[in-house]
Amino acid sequence: MRLQLLAILSLPLLSLASQEKQIPMSIAIEDYSPQTHAKPSLADLLTIEPSASIFYSYARELELSANFVDTTSSYTIFVPTNKAVMSLARKPHQGPKPPVDEGIQISEEEFDNQSKKNVERWVSAHIVPKSPIRLDSEYPTLLEGKTISFRPISKNDGKGPEWSRVTLEDGVRIIGMKEGSNGVLFLIDGTVSEAV
Ligand SMILES: *[C@@H]1O[C@H](CO)[C@@H](O)[C@H](O)[C@H]1NC(C)=O
Repeated sequence: MRLQLLAILSLPLLSLASQEKQIPMSIAIEDYSPQTHAKPSLADLLTIEPSASIFYSYARELELSANFVDTTSSYTIFVPTNKAVMSLARKPHQGPKPPVDEGIQISEEEFDNQSKKNVERWVSAHIVPKSPIRLDSEYPTLLEGKTISFRPISKNDGKGPEWSRVTLEDGVRIIGMKEGSNGVLFLIDGTVSEAV
């Protein structure tokens, strides 16, 4: 799971950054190759999406192996807006519910480990390891046992893109869509629950 996250979120950005370091901008534009870089990667899209910066900063927190490159897979990422994350009663690193033994003193290291695990579960629940997907079906996410399914909005006029006419989870709406070279990013006005 961790490795897959790396592939989507980290490496495209790293490789872009190292290219930029070596090639002056004017040359980079001339050499622009539509075959290999026709579209920005999902990481590029997340980087330039200011309304989703909290989700991306959580995703980047995850430890990822720099040796792993997976360019053959495509992903669908459901990205909560900053507003949606901020309105969560329990923040992603806190997990969905308090552990039964919350009163028990745990070490700082254990706390950090637990927080990281919670963040990983939360981020993973927002990623479907497939793209494109149909918005009338059910798909497993990177979080084991967790699926995302869609329901048509009951009062829709049949106009506009399909994504604007469905909800996921408990009435979460999709408010934007961007296509990247390695998948699709849907901006959502709520969050996906990591409860399976
Ligand atoms: C925290 O995670 C690290 C890395 O996975 C591990 O080596 C360490 O034993 C863990 N510590 C605790 C207290 O669980």
